[in-house]
Amino acid sequence: MDTSDEWIRSRTGIAERRIAEARDTTASLAITAARQALQRADADPRQVDLVIVATATPDYPLASTACLVQDAIGAADAGAFDLGAGCSGFVYALVMGHRSIASGESDLVLVIGADTLSRMVDWDDRSTCVLFGDGAGAVLLRATEGSAGIRSTLLGSDGSGSRMLYVPAGGSARPACAETVLQKEHALRMDGRQVYRFATQTMADACERVAERAGVPVKDVHHFVPHQANQRIITQAAKRLQVDESRFFCNLERFGNTSAASVPIALCEAAEGGRFRPGEQVILVGFGAGLTWAAALLEWGDAELGRRVSWWHSLGRKALYGWAHVRSRSRRTWRGAIQRLWRLLLPLTGLDD
Ligand code: ACO
Repeated sequence: MDTSDEWIRSRTGIAERRIAEARDTTASLAITAARQALQRADADPRQVDLVIVATATPDYPLASTACLVQDAIGAADAGAFDLGAGCSGFVYALVMGHRSIASGESDLVLVIGADTLSRMVDWDDRSTCVLFGDGAGAVLLRATEGSAGIRSTLLGSDGSGSRMLYVPAGGSARPACAETVLQKEHALRMDGRQVYRFATQTMADACERVAERAGVPVKDVHHFVPHQANQRIITQAAKRLQVDESRFFCNLERFGNTSAASVPIALCEAAEGGRFRPGEQVILVGFGAGLTWAAALLEWGDAELGRRVSWWHSLGRKALYGWAHVRSRSRRTWRGAIQRLWRLLLPLTGLDD
């Protein structure tokens, strides 16, 4: 391809990316992230009330990836749905999970951002294929006493920019056919310059507005965890907000743009690295296809993410997920057996006429 490491690093800040192996899918990455989040929170998957997966690259157009996750973690009877808001998806999903708890509908909500955009880029298009990586991140939400937690939120969209970043075919407007495949219309198309302009404006505005809603001056926000699309976009946002860029956590150098997974992966890395202290204000901010944007201001609590997990605890978890697998398989087998039996019996009943 007519590109260079120097071009990619200087224009985007990206040096490495992770590409999912052939046997992996968005769901398999999401399941791994979900299980890790549950383990760290020492939460029982059977207690999860709602699973939300923010993704632009679901395993199937139908059924939802969230249902695959719900089944694999054994969150029996939990609500589950996918949320499509491009790279803002995780922050959108976080806000939905938060509101579900605040309304009293749910006690425990699993929010996942997962994408395998490597499956949806045109690997001959140098303007997009150098940017994206695959990944997943997850958080578990529950109500707590005290001031720590989500303090304000902001969601926004501008559909007039939907063609700036989209996949032309595979939906109801242009169903898949031989021609759409030949024309590579199932691959992502992006007007990079326009998206860049939108992103630099939106990220700073969203941070300002979400801080205002929480009654916190933006200069007092300790940390920003932005969508990891381009280092230059983050630099511009910091400049507009007149805050030191070091307050923006960045890991896009190692992961590239992982779409809906970028904010939770960055949040997790920052937290694991001990970047946040209890009582500090953290803004999560995303922007992406739609066009969409979203932000949430959190007050950090005393989460202990470095907690070691004992071997017997891990064993217990494995047994739980093994049981979820057996449960799922036996349900499918049972349904198949009933169907076969019904086919056998139907002619005897005379109802098949
Ligand atoms: N290697 C070498 N040259 C390239 C490459 C490449 N990989 N890609 C483009 N170029 C060329 C272009 O053809 C152009 O050449 P020309 O001047 O002869 O026409 C030149 O480089 C400059 O192109 P620009 O598009 O102006 O480059 P820019 O500096 O804007 O950087 C980029 C491009 C990195 C895509 C930038 O516009 C950007 O980051 N945009 C935002 C993208 C983004 O955030 N997308 C994610 C949204 S999230 C979601 O929802 C999935």
